[in-house]
Amino acid sequence: MTADSQSGRRTSLHGEWSSRFAFILAVAGSAVGLGNVWKFPYITGVYGGGAFVIFYLFCVFAIGLPIMMAEILIGRRGRRNPVATMSLLGEEEAGSSTWRFVGMLGVITGVLILSYYSVIAGWAFAYMWQGAAGNFTGLNAAAVGDIFAGLSESAVMTGFWHTVFMGMTIVVVAKGVERGLEKAVRVLMPALIGLLLVLLGYSMVAGNFAAGLDFMFAPRFSELTQEGALVALGHAFFTLSVGMGAVMAYGAYLPDEHSIAKTSMAIVAADTAIAILAGLVIFPIVFQNGLNPASGPGLIFQSLPLAFGQLPGGQFVAAMFFLLLTFAAWTSAISLMEPGVAWIIESLKLSRPVAAWSMGGAIWLFGLLSVLSFNALSEVTFLRGTIFANIDFLTSNIMLPLGGFAIICFAGWFMSHNSTADEIDPEAGRGYRAWRFAARYIAPIAVAMIFLNAIGVF
Ligand code: TRP
Repeated sequence: MTADSQSGRRTSLHGEWSSRFAFILAVAGSAVGLGNVWKFPYITGVYGGGAFVIFYLFCVFAIGLPIMMAEILIGRRGRRNPVATMSLLGEEEAGSSTWRFVGMLGVITGVLILSYYSVIAGWAFAYMWQGAAGNFTGLNAAAVGDIFAGLSESAVMTGFWHTVFMGMTIVVVAKGVERGLEKAVRVLMPALIGLLLVLLGYSMVAGNFAAGLDFMFAPRFSELTQEGALVALGHAFFTLSVGMGAVMAYGAYLPDEHSIAKTSMAIVAADTAIAILAGLVIFPIVFQNGLNPASGPGLIFQSLPLAFGQLPGGQFVAAMFFLLLTFAAWTSAISLMEPGVAWIIESLKLSRPVAAWSMGGAIWLFGLLSVLSFNALSEVTFLRGTIFANIDFLTSNIMLPLGGFAIICFAGWFMSHNSTADEIDPEAGRGYRAWRFAARYIAPIAVAMIFLNAIGVF
């Protein structure tokens, strides 16, 4: 371990990314996933569109972006797994290694998110085979609904695909993340965007595009509920992969000379564009076919096959689309596991395969609760609904914002001006000052206010 805390420059224990572009691809691969294509449209539908989308955009740029920069700078400065990095920098900057609990909270958050993320990703994979078999051709909305019900209401089928997806994720994490990820994202992400553009064309021609646009962007602020604001905040964290240390873990391998600000802005912009694109594809189909935009987690699985069923070559397009979505979910799932696995390896001195398979096994087991939430245990509801709904709500809307709040306060208030400027811009120019202002004031105050608002303080 070569820690040179005098100059603040350390070297990573696991090597570095080959280029800035490789790092961008890895973080973008983490950010772009089910959050953009599955969750964003479904919660936009549930929370009424319009104001929800606008508020979400505010959260992404005013809160998510500065936190992403904070995670990268902390990760690069610590150059360890997030728990060890928070402990080390906590000691160095704030005189207390207790900050490691922020890293631990992140590991637990990642485990909980992945437990249900894998279930939804499994559905996407299952749909790839359905599409390839031509099962969507010529179907109406009711028939597509039956296909989704057949899958989600079967504990065996949903459990099977959850198992397959967890297996795929564990295999990659057990081997070590870097290599394959870079290549996969470089090819598959543009392909996913390309297919979304094809589908956008379909929605503009065959869907009710005007209704979709209106639903997504007409600002009806009176309709934004307190809970809706909290969910928009939570989703800003979720979609950017911030608040739990995933980006911090990847930042540990970023070479010193690369600009954190430019990199973060590119990733945030791309992630946001893909989510908006997905919404613009889905809602025109929803309105054209009289589907309910608020139907919940099944929304994309009940709407997109309608487009595939009518498009020329739809069988191929459907298979490709769900394959690419599965890949996007895969690169995200890997990043949900990596901080925990890196921590287990370094602290328990286990080999990477043992760490990955045991942690992955535990996540798989816990994920069965989410599998059963759509069938055997669908009647077991409390607080936010099913067990799945509660895990999703707790992690996205409470644990990620709490983690992000701690991270941004640490970077803004506890780290010295010199340390953060050193990472972002040694000249401490305008960009740096804007970040520091957002980190000290805008982001923490906004998170705190949205929280207090949600529990009814205002
Ligand atoms: N951002 C991913 C998505 O949108 C999910 C994800 C990957 C994530 N890593 C994360 C969410 C870390 C929160 C924290 O699908």
